[in-house]
Amino acid sequence: MTKWTANDLPDLNGRTVVITGAGRGLGLITARELARAGAHVVLGVRDTDKARRAVVSLPGAFDIRTLDVADLSSVRAFADSWSRDLDILINNAGVMDIPAARTVDGLDQQTATNYTGPFLLTNLLLEHVTDRVVHVTSQLHRQGKIDLKDLDWRTRKYNGMSVYEASKLAVVLFSLELQRRLSATGSEVRSVLASPGIARTSLAAHSRSNVINRFKFLTNAPELGALSVLYAATQDVPGNSYIGPDGLGGLRGYPALRRQGKAGLDTAMAGDLWKATTELVGAVAR
Ligand SMILES: NC(=O)c1ccc[n+]([C@@H]2O[C@H](COP(=O)([O-])OP(=O)(O)OC[C@H]3O[C@@H](n4cnc5c(N)ncnc54)[C@H](OP(=O)(O)O)[C@@H]3O)[C@@H](O)[C@H]2O)c1
Repeated sequence: MTKWTANDLPDLNGRTVVITGAGRGLGLITARELARAGAHVVLGVRDTDKARRAVVSLPGAFDIRTLDVADLSSVRAFADSWSRDLDILINNAGVMDIPAARTVDGLDQQTATNYTGPFLLTNLLLEHVTDRVVHVTSQLHRQGKIDLKDLDWRTRKYNGMSVYEASKLAVVLFSLELQRRLSATGSEVRSVLASPGIARTSLAAHSRSNVINRFKFLTNAPELGALSVLYAATQDVPGNSYIGPDGLGGLRGYPALRRQGKAGLDTAMAGDLWKATTELVGAVAR
């Protein structure tokens, strides 16, 4: 069977995409390929100069804007400045197994980057989204444990990997509840999950457990990891699909329709998590 690659991307002329944290890693590859296919790609990044340098020699239309997804005022400012149609929002920015730290809002830095900030960003931009929201999660969501009473890691002992796993499970549950809400209102906008498997980026370079380096023989080249995101962003898949590599354990290979872990399909938990997150971030409508 032929494998899906970036050469199979549809013509994206006239489409606008926002992708967060796209100045390097999988986000940059995704941005490059979407622009090559004709999309107008907006990179929401912390370091605009670095992102500008990263795309300067690439073909296509790029717009570089300041966005720190872990800073709620930065998220609100980005969303406030948006007034046109947005075809595809890709929540890609992420950190893994970082030391405990608090954001300017007093939130857990890792959870805020991977989940809480993207939750707010998505809700604020949703009225503009015409096609879909793509959430970049991880196979590690399967190990995630969510404590609704301590979503932001105030009473539990901080463990970098546990926080990563929980944040990626929260992303999966966010997609589930978002899709439920969209469908309930008759919206045709889709919420889609993408898992890159394990791709050799600098995501875990600093991490003691460094799963990416430790399991190098199992890993995807970054170009392959980004394919799941590209597929999720452009292919005709059902709402709340989980796209990941087709190889053993969903860790490497070419993009295919896979299945999220059981905990990621818990509708009651997804609804409760939405409420708890709203309490954490404040107003989610403009
Ligand atoms: N690589 C893998 O094997 C793998 C597996 C599963 C899931 N993922 C997910 O894939 C996504 C991309 O990861 P990657 O592998 O490409 O890692 P990466 O090379 O470390 O890139 C992470 C990106 O996120 C950005 N970022 C971090 N914090 C941010 C913030 N507060 N605001 C805005 N941008 C921020 C970084 O920007 P700066 O340059 O400013 O730091 C960087 O561009 C992440 O969500 C990750 O969890 C990756």
